[in-house]
Amino acid sequence: MSDEILYDDSHIRFLEDMWGEGFLSPGGADEAALVVEGLDLSGKTVLDIGCGSGAIAVLLAEKLGAARVVGIDVEEPVCAAARNRAEQKGLSDRIEIRLVEPGPLPFDNESFDVVYSKDSIIHIPDKEALCTDAYRVLRPGGWLAASDWLIKHDDEPSPEMRDYIRAEDLDFAMASPARYNTAMQAAGFTNIALRNRNAWYRDVAAEELERLTGNERTLLEAAHGADFIAGQVSTWSLMLPVLQSGEHCPHHIRGQKPD
Ligand SMILES: C[S@@+](CC[C@H](N)C(=O)[O-])C[C@H]1O[C@@H](n2cnc3c(N)ncnc32)[C@H](O)[C@@H]1O
Repeated sequence: MSDEILYDDSHIRFLEDMWGEGFLSPGGADEAALVVEGLDLSGKTVLDIGCGSGAIAVLLAEKLGAARVVGIDVEEPVCAAARNRAEQKGLSDRIEIRLVEPGPLPFDNESFDVVYSKDSIIHIPDKEALCTDAYRVLRPGGWLAASDWLIKHDDEPSPEMRDYIRAEDLDFAMASPARYNTAMQAAGFTNIALRNRNAWYRDVAAEELERLTGNERTLLEAAHGADFIAGQVSTWSLMLPVLQSGEHCPHHIRGQKPD
């Protein structure tokens, strides 16, 4: 990972214009809640890995019943935004945001009931270590429930996928569903389930490109600069074909630590 800040204030503002206040990934509150659909979070302690600018930590505490949320992230601008959001919502006593170093999770064994993450593990190359560490910090019976951007296979990315990943310029480390499944099994998880969200995001991303190129373009250019928006149009244009081919396949990923 480079030392450069990838999610600086201007990038945060752009992504929030695309995806909603406090959301740095697609789908807003509905998609974030779907990741934990069917899990009862009431009274639970939740770790949010890669909390970004904090709308999901707030959602988990305010709407989904978590008693306590610890959001961790590796960049200070998003941590500052997330802390601010929690404070403005009057939730600072239940939401703690911590700036951490990439690497092992800085928590004791069996500290959390749920380990949550939305579209952040893509930045963590060692999926096997992450799964083992998530398992370690979970209490028996606890769940890992994540959304992430996956690649369909473990071969070299197609030329189209390579061009898209290069355009994102965000240190993406995409892994396949098969690799996640094996990593979760090896860590000890049971009740493993992977749900492909390609069909959903394929349609949403096409709408996003329409927003970037249509009526909203002038407003977005005024807010973020014409060159920046042209760059984003180019990235989205490279993303659509790899979503349409299914090579880029966001998934929801879930597994339970046995009781
Ligand atoms: C696409 S954003 C998603 C943020 C948030 N989960 C959301 O959906 O709004 C990815 C986040 O992962 C964070 N990240 C990158 N590497 C990380 C790591 N090793 N551990 C935790 N977070 C990391 C980034 O700083 C960024 O805030």
